[in-house]
Amino acid sequence: MKKIFICLLSLAVYSSLKAQDNQTIRAEMGKVHLEFKLDAHGRPVYNVGYDQQAVINPSYMGINLSDGQNFDGHFAITGTERKTVDETWEPVWGEVSHIRNHYEQVTVHLKQQDKAGRLLNIIFRVFADGVGFRYEFPEQPNLKYFIVSDELTEFSLTGDHKTFWIPGDYDSNEYPYTVSPISKIDASVLAKSATDIAVRFVPDKYGVQTPLMMKTAEGLYINIHEAALQNYTSMQLHADIKTFKLTANLVADAVGNKAYMNAPGKTPWRTIIISNRAEDILASKLILNLNDPSKIENTSWIKPMKFVGVWWEMQTGNSTWSYSDNAPGADGKLIPSGKHGANMANVKRYIDFAAQNGIQGVLVEGWNVGWEDWFGNWKENVFDFVTPYPDFDVRAITQYAASKGVKMIMHNETSGSATNYERQMDTAFRFMNKFGYPAVKTGYVGKIIPRGEHHDGQWMVDHYIRVAQKAAQYHVMLDAHEPVRPTGLQRTYPNWMACEAGRGNEYNAFSTGNNLNHETIMPFTRLIGGPMDYTPGIFKIRGYSTVPGRQVHSTLAKQLALYITMYSPIQMAADMPENYEKHLDAFQFIKDVATDWDDTKVIEAEPGEYITTARKEKGTANWFIGAITNENGRHAVVPLGFLDKGKKYVAAIYADAGDADWKNNPEAYQVTRFLVTDDTRLNIKLANGGGAAISIKPVTAEDKALKFYK
Ligand code: NOJ
Ligand code: CA
Repeated sequence: MKKIFICLLSLAVYSSLKAQDNQTIRAEMGKVHLEFKLDAHGRPVYNVGYDQQAVINPSYMGINLSDGQNFDGHFAITGTERKTVDETWEPVWGEVSHIRNHYEQVTVHLKQQDKAGRLLNIIFRVFADGVGFRYEFPEQPNLKYFIVSDELTEFSLTGDHKTFWIPGDYDSNEYPYTVSPISKIDASVLAKSATDIAVRFVPDKYGVQTPLMMKTAEGLYINIHEAALQNYTSMQLHADIKTFKLTANLVADAVGNKAYMNAPGKTPWRTIIISNRAEDILASKLILNLNDPSKIENTSWIKPMKFVGVWWEMQTGNSTWSYSDNAPGADGKLIPSGKHGANMANVKRYIDFAAQNGIQGVLVEGWNVGWEDWFGNWKENVFDFVTPYPDFDVRAITQYAASKGVKMIMHNETSGSATNYERQMDTAFRFMNKFGYPAVKTGYVGKIIPRGEHHDGQWMVDHYIRVAQKAAQYHVMLDAHEPVRPTGLQRTYPNWMACEAGRGNEYNAFSTGNNLNHETIMPFTRLIGGPMDYTPGIFKIRGYSTVPGRQVHSTLAKQLALYITMYSPIQMAADMPENYEKHLDAFQFIKDVATDWDDTKVIEAEPGEYITTARKEKGTANWFIGAITNENGRHAVVPLGFLDKGKKYVAAIYADAGDADWKNNPEAYQVTRFLVTDDTRLNIKLANGGGAAISIKPVTAEDKALKFYK
């Protein structure tokens, strides 16, 4: 995001066509090719191929407007423009330090052949790993303000692909994934049974959320999502389970409209990432490339970090967010329950632990009044974001943290009342500045206010962006829970570090948990749009909850691997200090692991099965590797060819013990250390539901006695 420093070729060619020309327009990059034309009724149609294979069969495009003057046909092509761009840019933080943005762009100018003569442009960008396209409404005499009632974009697939899906819910992404052919999609069953999700709204039985990951019978991987979602509503997909055609399904607002726009204006990009290698889907930068460069000029205050928090203890029922068991009476008084987590002594314990272990931040939830009746009442004014409970002294605790070199992380749960948050925002951010909080975790649990709006509708889409902009104004980093799923806007607002917008590790605390393949699917789905605050690092796998029988669906070693496979520039060490203190040799990996990277190599990956990723820490010679599997154990084979040639390194391998098993022996791990070089090929056993984490650092004098890895 800092600057574009190479621009090899950028030429625009405009060609004007006669209105009736019925030609096919083509664009390609590497193996990906796209065609566009108008059908006999002047309806826009596109198709996409990869090598010799069809990926998207001819599919209609268009937009319906509430005034009935639809952009759905009677078009003629009045001209096209082409340009090729090949540039490289540097993100403020990320999985790699440099990103190449190489595409061929074709803009098709369309005009309706009727009295109004309305204009529509469709802009296509073809990359070596997929396609993006968006609708643009140019300035024109017969279109100013308009309401989108439907988007007609289709993705006609070529078969009954294997699909990794969650329901198209207007309010939540916190579902476990179903792996099924398109023909077996039924969102209603899942929505009904998912009683552990706070707010659910799934109007379409055949509606699915994006990013939607698919695999064809021929082994082609296809991912459909969107980029740069702003001033529009989010796109879900309606699946025709007989013809395998997906259609854009826009999230409606309180009165049933989809998006309010004006000309000139444009929609977000619709994205199709394609490869015959699953690894390339994870490595794709197509969505970031389709977003605008940073709008924040001075980004020196944006710093990736790790944090611990007074949090898991509430999630597991061991303490509470609220100070009292009852809402305040008429006198406004609260009777303490004695279970409040955010008390001074407890918070100091976390600060001390962070200071001792080089963890930069401490999150404290439940510090401000309102938690006694925050949820379920659709109340507008619950929190004010500045009034602490009586046992939490903000000045004293922030001074204590500062004296230990630890940063406090603010928590602003809005309870879904976005109107209240918008009114309080300046006050809330001024409070953070006053007490030195560099980051805030926001939350949107509950039904949205303005009432009738949904988490994923246009009003809220723009709300989350307003919060990111406001946070930037106050130099505060943002981690949003329960927002719309990300679409690469972290490039434009690099203080928007992460979102939850998915089913996090916390479901292992307060519900029956996440599936064993969950973390092997998330990077192919939810994380395609941006980093996730997944909250990894649970060490006490069993016996942590006040509800008997709860168990994290993972081994301890797999929890370490998630710091690499679940990318985020802010990573929580989610367990409680007392559980880390019992395993300080394993905690060493969390202490060491970086949060910002020069380079990333996806070594091997298959959605639903396994992922092994290696990343090089920004500005050092250190590498970190994470390998995870689903319920089936396997061997992760990792050739270290990415290391500097001939140089000696020490690898610390945090692996499942020989007899580890997610169900019966999840906390059994072993830490071994070996010398390695670029010739080394690691072969590491992952238990059922297991994983491994590896740190690799240049050899020092102390490591001389170590043996070479065999
Ligand atoms: C849900 C969030 O995901 C979780 O992290 C948070 O603790 C609760 N809401 C309370 O705000
Ligand atoms: Ca959540």
